[in-house]
Amino acid sequence: MNIIGPDCVVFGVDDLEGSKTFLADFGLKGVQLDDTGWLFQALDGTGVLVRHRSDPKLPPALDTGNMLRQQIYGVADAAALTEIEAEISKDRRVTRLADGALEFVDDLGFQLRFQVTIRRELDMPAEKINAPGAPAQRAANELGVSDTMAAAPRTLSHVVLFVPDMDKAVNFFIDRLGFIVTDVLKGAGPFLRPASNDDHHTMFFIRTPNYMQGCEHIAFHMGGPTELMVAGDRFVRKGYQSFWGPGRHKFGSNWFWYFNSPLGCRVEYDADMDKHDNSWVAREAPIGPEASQMFLLQWREKWAPGGGPEGARH
Ligand SMILES: [Fe+2]
Repeated sequence: MNIIGPDCVVFGVDDLEGSKTFLADFGLKGVQLDDTGWLFQALDGTGVLVRHRSDPKLPPALDTGNMLRQQIYGVADAAALTEIEAEISKDRRVTRLADGALEFVDDLGFQLRFQVTIRRELDMPAEKINAPGAPAQRAANELGVSDTMAAAPRTLSHVVLFVPDMDKAVNFFIDRLGFIVTDVLKGAGPFLRPASNDDHHTMFFIRTPNYMQGCEHIAFHMGGPTELMVAGDRFVRKGYQSFWGPGRHKFGSNWFWYFNSPLGCRVEYDADMDKHDNSWVAREAPIGPEASQMFLLQWREKWAPGGGPEGARH
């Protein structure tokens, strides 16, 4: 099945104005869809759709009250939708919408939508580095950082779900939608990618009690670790609360920085994730601090040596 990756995640929130401000400050571009709905887009058009939780235009809520309402996946073409419809309609209702998209509910009750992807192909340079022994990536006089440098989320990377029944949650995506396990954090769950996406993961799962089912976090890819750091630093300075990071994960090798959000889940900047093909053999490690990151750093105020009482200690 030619599934490309997540196009959009839909939330029904308590604080619509706070969510809109959060998503705009995070670096996403807000587009008003109708009287009550806003889409916040990364540079390639993927993103987050927010409405107030009482908005009747939203898909039904989970029993847990988690604010996640729907995961929207993009596929390559109409043929992929036909293939998904044929498979999923074997044992449940699949709604074909006027625009050709499909809607159905997975084995745990998560609302899903599959559509011909809205993501635009990006043509942007990756972050460039200079290293002895390799040709310089930045030309003479081309600077690595500046106060005005852009650091915008490029694309929606992955969705992480709290699930009470791991096998049920994961097997649906593997057996019915052709997702592939790249690695497993034992005690939490597997990392999955769709067959047509070479990112280490577009989904991850964490086992939780029934009452917690929902979205744990969503993540957006940045252009590299410096963009991630610059965006995160700017976000902290706007008053947002860091939850975890900055750091670099082991599985996936992606840099990460997670922030608390009014969407009822964390929202993450990530960068430089591993790519995989079908020759990859999934690794396993027990979840814990060692497996969860290669290193973990903590934001602090800017500082200069000799610059006052704190400087004198260094
Ligand atoms: Fe993540």
